[in-house]
Amino acid sequence: EGEALGAGHGKIILLGEHSVVYGRRAIAAPIPLAIQARIEDTREGIELIIPRWGVEQRLDFDAKRPPSFTRSMARLLESLGLTGRGMRIEIFPNVPRAMGLGGSAALAVAVIRAMNVHFGLGLSDARVNELAFECEKFAHGTPSGLDNTLATYGDVTLFRAGEQPMREVIELPEPLPIVIGMSGVESLTAKTVTRVREAWKKNPAIYERIFDEIDGLVGLGLDALKTSDYDTLGEMMNVCQGLLNAMQVSSWELEELIQIARNNGALGAKLTGGGGGGSIIALAPENSAGVARAIRAAGYHAIEVTVGGA
Ligand code: MEV
Repeated sequence: EGEALGAGHGKIILLGEHSVVYGRRAIAAPIPLAIQARIEDTREGIELIIPRWGVEQRLDFDAKRPPSFTRSMARLLESLGLTGRGMRIEIFPNVPRAMGLGGSAALAVAVIRAMNVHFGLGLSDARVNELAFECEKFAHGTPSGLDNTLATYGDVTLFRAGEQPMREVIELPEPLPIVIGMSGVESLTAKTVTRVREAWKKNPAIYERIFDEIDGLVGLGLDALKTSDYDTLGEMMNVCQGLLNAMQVSSWELEELIQIARNNGALGAKLTGGGGGGSIIALAPENSAGVARAIRAAGYHAIEVTVGGA
């Protein structure tokens, strides 16, 4: 029996979450954590196995109200001409769930890539990305397309949504050291995206200005990133956090993590992803280990990563 492995990258957003849903630019980077998927043939039905989460189930497409994952699988199989094929999908999730690190998009890409290899579908990256975007719509309504793009291509990227999304690969002169602090509180992107949409509808002028402001930070942050000007990049991250806070997508735990990072020498710290829970990122080139240690001492989970670079 053939066996196929597919992988999708997790990601952090350096600048531009939420405003990216409204057509502004964002900068995101892949993290060295990925979700992997393996497909094996079975006689009938779709078995989903996620050993680490204790998930072992058969998808019920005929259920009255199937969960969004089941619905998105049904659509995916239809798009790929695989409806009715029996298979076992085994998933190895090395990106934590609902921590703002692009887990759902990474999972979609991993499954699509595994199907691509196993069934010899010959999908291009662009098609993988498109299919993952469709899956993301089931997971959270109006995604910008940033998460699936990062999960598919795994590049440090300047992104803007649209009919023809802008996807510009950013070359970093040296790897960027980042500490990720996880709040342990699940972040439901659908919820915070909806919150921002409601607030934007009530006060469109104010929210449009905030989105423009963040777009400006992305522009300055991009220049800083390309020249390894960490003081400026850190400042842009801090100001961005203030604006995310203004949109009320921060939380008690995220603010605590951010203060811990800044107190331990971070030049910049902000939430990353949807917020409301999930994770923060901190830029502390002189003291990444110290920031990670302080976050752990406060009872949270922290990882040190480097992104990009030759
Ligand atoms: C989630 O990782 C990023 C958001 O901007 C939503 C999106 O871009 O779809 C909050």
